[in-house]
Amino acid sequence: MTAKVRTAILISGRGSNMTALIEAAKKPDYPADIALVLSNRPDAGGLQRAAADGIATAIVDHKAHPDRESFEHRVDAVLREHGVEIVCLAGFMRILTPWFITRWEGRLINIHPSLLPDYRGLHTHARALADGVSRHGCTVHFVVPELDAGPTIAQASVPVLPGDDEAALSARVLEQEHRLYPAALADVAAGRVRLIEGAIADDRPADHARFLAG
Ligand code: GRF
Repeated sequence: MTAKVRTAILISGRGSNMTALIEAAKKPDYPADIALVLSNRPDAGGLQRAAADGIATAIVDHKAHPDRESFEHRVDAVLREHGVEIVCLAGFMRILTPWFITRWEGRLINIHPSLLPDYRGLHTHARALADGVSRHGCTVHFVVPELDAGPTIAQASVPVLPGDDEAALSARVLEQEHRLYPAALADVAAGRVRLIEGAIADDRPADHARFLAG
């Protein structure tokens, strides 16, 4: 088998998606290896979880940097020191500048808790509930400079049920996030889906699951 693709996960918090990626990457035939977990917050719960699994961790505290540019230059340097090839954003709560995004173009992916293009930005579950939609979900996409606007790699949807509140709906979506992100990273790491000049190049077979339903 060809070498596994060295992957970093960027987090700011509890890291449940990070954990799902770490667990998936333990399988011998998984095409990516988690080489680094990096947090902008020293107190992110996910850091301890990653370290307990023997994964290298790094903290680049945005508060210790005078501006976004110097923060991102440091993140970029740490990623390169670890030989990282793909970067997964997983609850990373910093907006990235076009400089960073362009540098990692096609190798930078994110999970967002909505069926994009619906509900870009924050508070997606509350907004979906307020609108009374019947289905909601999550999306893994390539990151482009426009927020939550990059080409979709994969989506998973769930029903919105009578009596749902934000906690119930977000838990149902999160369960799907944990299935979707490992599947999407595998597709990117194996080169089955790529970003070419801003558009998706998709070599996945027609029956390959890009849209999961929960
Ligand atoms: C997830 O809902 C993800 O979609 C969003 O931030 C949340 C992170 O949760 N981008 P976790 O830290 O992975 O548990």
